This record gives sequence, structure tokens and C-alpha cells, in this order.
Amino acid sequence: MGNFFPRWTNWLPLKLAIALAFIGAGVSMGIAYYFTPKYTRVGYEPTQPVPFSHKIHAGELGLDCRYCHSFVEVSGHANVPTNQTCFNCHGAGKGNIKSASPKLEKVMKAQETGQPVPWVKLHKVPDYAYFNHSVHINRGVSCASCHGKINEMEVVRHDQTLSMGWCLDCHRNPENNLRPLDQVTNLNYQAKDLDRAAFYKDLLAAGTPAGDIAEVILGGKPGYDVKGVEDLMAIAEKKFGKDVSQLEVGSQLKKHWQIQPPESCAACHR
Ligand code: HEC
Ligand code: HEC
Ligand code: HEC
Ligand code: HEC
Ligand code: HEC
Repeated sequence: MGNFFPRWTNWLPLKLAIALAFIGAGVSMGIAYYFTPKYTRVGYEPTQPVPFSHKIHAGELGLDCRYCHSFVEVSGHANVPTNQTCFNCHGAGKGNIKSASPKLEKVMKAQETGQPVPWVKLHKVPDYAYFNHSVHINRGVSCASCHGKINEMEVVRHDQTLSMGWCLDCHRNPENNLRPLDQVTNLNYQAKDLDRAAFYKDLLAAGTPAGDIAEVILGGKPGYDVKGVEDLMAIAEKKFGKDVSQLEVGSQLKKHWQIQPPESCAACHR
């Protein structure tokens, strides 16, 4: 048998491997570049036609987000309220709060002409990406995770990039952001404010076996001898310390609500 392959081909596998590694690196750098928004939206804060303050209304007055953004739990799109919602308090003869204020002039005009106030829209994902509010709200993701502390903002601004990488960061590790459903519009919520006993009692009351709850606390190890709330409290305190932690809450909710945010292209690009 002759030497079928010339000598230099001995190096071929290695060369191929190096070339592939370079191509790979090039592609991932390309992706990292390509998938980062070219400009940063964080901080974008346009001037609105009416100086409406979330700090006053959602912060100091404590109005729930859903009082005005009433579709956010039931629809893919969040709505901005109509003049009528403002008139519940600012309309002359009704609540009559500051109805003569020059700052409210455009709302009064809008009500007379029947035209909506031309609010400037800030948050927008491109048309080729699909986003739905209600699926997030009803799975324990708070407005705060995506919009920041709106209740402290005089003027709404972009708090997060809303880039694809940002969506995926949470989709890969949702436990960092899940909270009980009744806390979704409480923008001041912190896991450490939760009552640990009540949290585990609720999970047990929902029919989750104590052993399954224990397994999540113990990071996958079975907790055969765990019977009730007392036992759960003991192992949780040992693992997470005195205060309830975000990871403690998030990992339980992820497991028992079977949270599986999609990572496939087709889920968001339909
Ligand atoms: C009294 C009514 C009212 C309440 C309560 C309220 N909002 Fe708003 N919200 C508005 C109005 C009006 C606008 C449009 C003007 C502006 O951007 O300030 C708006 C705009 C927004 C926007 C920006 C929309 C865009 O254009 O992208 C976000 C995000 C938002 N609100 C979140 C919240 C959250 C979160 C809460 C609860 C903490 C909340 N709002 C409570 C009335 C309200
Ligand atoms: C639940 C009642 C309530 C609702 C609903 C409400 N407001 Fe207010 N608003 C208030 C109160 C209370 C103040 C504070 C008044 C003060 O400073 O004494 C205020 C203050 C304001 C001011 C500042 C007025 C000034 O002269 O300082 C503006 C502007 C305003 N609201 C716009 C709106 C708009 C726009 C909406 C609808 C999207 C709205 N408000 C809905 C209760 C409400
Ligand atoms: C998982 C992230 C996420 C959560 C949670 C979330 N939002 Fe949004 N919000 C977005 C994105 C992304 C947009 C832009 C949507 C688009 O372009 O259709 C947006 C847009 C909005 C708008 C503008 C809608 C419009 O058409 O002008 C409002 C108002 C709003 N959100 C309010 C809220 C409120 C109130 C909550 C909590 C009850 C909330 N959002 C929770 C990501 C989120
Ligand atoms: C802070 C966490 C978080 C962020 C940020 C987030 N998501 Fe999600 N997403 C979730 C969770 C939790 C679910 C629910 C998964 C489940 O029900 O199993 C979900 C579900 C979805 C779904 C599947 C539900 C459906 O309607 O088909 C889509 C699509 C989606 N997200 C798109 C997006 C997009 C696009 C963005 C960025 C603009 C985004 N998400 C940002 C947490 C997040
Ligand atoms: C969780 C939702 C989600 C998933 C999953 C997802 N994307 Fe995206 N993608 C987005 C959003 C949102 C944007 C718009 C980002 C922006 O506006 O900055 C985007 C933007 C893009 C862009 C345009 C990038 C640019 O810089 O203009 C491409 C290309 C893309 N996605 C491809 C993919 C591919 C390929 C996959 C599968 C591997 C994928 N996406 C999976 C949400 C998603």
C-alpha cells in the first residue's frame, strides 16, 4: 500500500480544530455584539404632555398599578388609563382635587374634546419579538423586575435594557425574580419581609407534600423525616439563615408552580 495521504495531512485534524475554535469565537463575539442593543435605553425619559407623577399617585397615595393599568393582568398589552380614570379624582364636581390646576389643563381639554391625552410611549419591543404582560404577572413576576421602582419616579424612565439577553437572563434563572402573586404590584416587596411560617403553611395548604418542599430547600436531597411546618422552618433557617431569602422563595415557586420560561427562538419570534 502506498502512502495514500500526503504527510501534511497529519496536521489536518489539529488545523481544523483551531479553525473551528476561531470560527466559534467569532460567532459568539458576533452574537454578543449583535444581541446587545446598539444604544442603551436605560434612563430614556421623554417629556410627557401632562406632568403626571407616579411618585405621587402610586407612591404617596398608594394607588395600585392596576387601578390605572387595568388590563395588565388579563391582556398581552398593558394599557395607559383614559381621562375618565383621572376624572374619578380630578373632575370638577367629583373628587375635585386640583381641578383648576394649570398642570391638569391638558387633561381637562382632552376630556372636553373627547381626545385622549397624547402620552409618549416609552417601552416598546420590536414588532418581530412577541411579549405578553399577563403571562408574566400571573406567574409571579413583578412590574419592579422589568420597570424598576416606578412608585418612586416623578417621571417614568427606562430602568432595564429590554434586550434579548436581558429576557433570557431571567428565563434561564427565574427563581431570582419570582414572588407570591399578591406581591406582584407591591414594588417595595422584599423576600425578607415574608413570614417564613406563613409561606410554608401556604405551600402545604396548596397540597404540596412536606417532603417535596424539603427537597427544594435541601437542593435536591430527599427530606424523608420532614413532617410539617416546624421541621421545614428548622431546615430552612439552617440553609438560608434567619431572614427569608429571594432564592428560598423563588426556588419553591419555580418547582411547585412548574415555571419553565421558554428559551427557544420560536417562543419569542413567532
Ligand atoms: C393614577 C393612574 C396610574 C397609576 C396608579 C399607575 N400608573 Fe403607570 N402610567 C399612568 C399614566 C397616565 C402613564 C403615561 C404617562 C407617563 O408615562 O407618566 C403611565 C405610564 C406607565 C409606564 C410607561 C408606559 C410606556 O409608555 O412605556 C409604566 C411602565 C407604568 N406606568 C407602570 C406603572 C406601575 C408599575 C404602577 C404601579 C406601581 C403604575 N404605573 C401606577 C398612570 C398610572
Ligand atoms: C385616586 C385619586 C386620583 C386619581 C385617580 C388621579 N389623581 Fe392626580 N392627584 C391626586 C392627588 C391627591 C394629587 C395631589 C394633590 C396635591 O398635591 O394636593 C394629585 C396630583 C396630580 C397632579 C399635580 C397637580 C398640581 O397642580 O400639583 C397632576 C398633574 C395629576 N394629579 C394628574 C393626574 C392624571 C393625569 C391622572 C390620570 C392618569 C390622575 N392624576 C389620577 C389624586 C388622583
Ligand atoms: C417581564 C417583564 C415585564 C413585567 C413583569 C411588566 N412589564 Fe410592563 N412592559 C414590559 C415590556 C417588554 C413592555 C413593552 C411592550 C410592548 O412593546 O408591547 C412593557 C410595556 C408596559 C407599558 C406600556 C404599554 C403601552 O402600550 O403603552 C405599561 C403601562 C406597563 N408595561 C406597565 C406594567 C405594569 C403596571 C406592570 C406590573 C403589573 C408591568 N408592566 C410588568 C415588560 C414588563
Ligand atoms: C424577570 C423575569 C422575566 C423577564 C425579564 C422576562 N420573562 Fe418571559 N417569562 C418569565 C416567566 C416566569 C414566564 C412564565 C413561564 C411559565 O409559565 O412556565 C415567562 C414566559 C414567557 C413566554 C411564554 C408565555 C407565552 O406567552 O407564550 C414568552 C413568550 C416570554 N416570557 C417572552 C419574554 C420576552 C420577549 C421578554 C423580554 C422582553 C421576557 N419574556 C422577559 C420571566 C421573565
Ligand atoms: C425570551 C424571548 C426571546 C428568545 C427565546 C429569543 N429571542 Fe431573539 N429577541 C428577543 C427580543 C425581545 C429582541 C429585541 C431586542 C431589542 O430590542 O434589543 C430579540 C432580537 C433578536 C434579533 C435581532 C438582534 C438585533 O440586535 O437587532 C435576532 C437576530 C434574534 N433575536 C434571534 C434569535 C434567535 C436565533 C433565537 C434562538 C436562539 C432567539 N432570538 C431567541 C427575544 C427573544
